[in-house]
Amino acid sequence: MLNFDIHFPTRIHFGRGKIEELAREILVYGRRVLLVYGGGSIKRSGLYEQVVNIFDDFGITHLELSGVQPNPRISSVRQGVELCKEHEIELVLAVGGGSTIDCAKIIAAGAGYEGDAWDFFTRRARINYALPLGCILTLAATGSEMNGNAVISNKETEQKLGTGSTVLIPRFSILDPEYSFSVPPEQTAAGTVDIMSHVFEQYFSPTPGTFIQDRLAEAMLKTCIHYGPIALAEPDNYEARANLMWTGSLALNGLLGAGKRTDWATHDIEHEISALYDITHGLGLAILTPYWMHYVMDEVTAPRLADYARQVWSIEGTEDLIVARAGIKKTAEFFRSLHLAGSLSEIGVESDRLIEMAEKATAHGTLGSFKKLEFSDVLKILTNAFNGK
Ligand code: NZQ
Ligand code: ZN
Repeated sequence: MLNFDIHFPTRIHFGRGKIEELAREILVYGRRVLLVYGGGSIKRSGLYEQVVNIFDDFGITHLELSGVQPNPRISSVRQGVELCKEHEIELVLAVGGGSTIDCAKIIAAGAGYEGDAWDFFTRRARINYALPLGCILTLAATGSEMNGNAVISNKETEQKLGTGSTVLIPRFSILDPEYSFSVPPEQTAAGTVDIMSHVFEQYFSPTPGTFIQDRLAEAMLKTCIHYGPIALAEPDNYEARANLMWTGSLALNGLLGAGKRTDWATHDIEHEISALYDITHGLGLAILTPYWMHYVMDEVTAPRLADYARQVWSIEGTEDLIVARAGIKKTAEFFRSLHLAGSLSEIGVESDRLIEMAEKATAHGTLGSFKKLEFSDVLKILTNAFNGK
């Protein structure tokens, strides 16, 4: 295990009715709030009205930035930054999924920056300051509610880029699983895969001696495999939604990756797909992951892939390569059982853009650490995932 420093600054209010903590949390930072939300799911569910009523009851004034899209746009960020600057906003409140939270994070950072917020992604500027941010999570997937990462798309440049800073970590997050009852099946499935992928990216590592991180990771994978199908079949099953929601936060809050090198190649490749095609992040991961696993399997990596197959899928056998292969097959079958597509061609990706995606993904060097991937490796994974074999 490697040395590490870790700090979890987000106050989590988890469970039914925890919105009762909202006003108290906001008033720590001020009374002028920018409310950030997406395309309207929070209006349909009644959550919007609940939040605004709390604002009224406690004398909290607010402005709104609505219409944040999945794969959130830098154009939405720019609108939000302007509102913060014009109206001396004291706290940004994101109500929604990862896209809304990521957009709110960069708005919070942009509010204290004179230049354009896209500079944070082109590395022209570092994020050293951000307004305080709070979240009400409505979709279990990204873990954004408890981490300092944000991923933003720029349609003009056809880029989807990530950034991160400890100052972007939410001060508080309200996690009421009931708010995720209304998540549609395809987003429930994609969210479950996204959580699993975050675990994979940290579990498949070249660092030895991380027994505790690995057993925690396997427990999270088993939780997704158990509860993902239940949440699909019974959208208002509290136990399933609660377990998925808490796993989503734990999977990407720094806990699993502490003390080890992490991979992130599958995520880097997926971001190039959703940059060009605006697909759901978790869907792209569901297609890519089994092909990535197959491609990186060799004599060195097979024992870890076999560990995964044995611990998570209860596959028996002494030959690591055979056991590992069976685990990958189970993974692909599980994703298909969630009704997610199994190839890039099925979702409209064009074969003549694979080279461009592989080039962009490796523009700054090799990907991954479990097995390092160059341009030609990434192209092969994309081609296999395109063909579905
Ligand atoms: O926009 P609304 O109307 O709210 O609808 C959303 C959206 O259409 C809907 N939804 C959310 N909660 C709902 C609901 N519909 C009904 N009932 C509810 N309770 O679901 C759709 C997808 O929402 P989105 O926020 O895009 O999903 P997700 O949470 O999966 O976020 C995906 C984004 O996060 C990035 C992804 O790349 C993608 O841009 N990621 C962020 C990470 C981070 N910050 O740490 C890490 C991830 O790996 C990921 O890259
Ligand atoms: Zn992800």
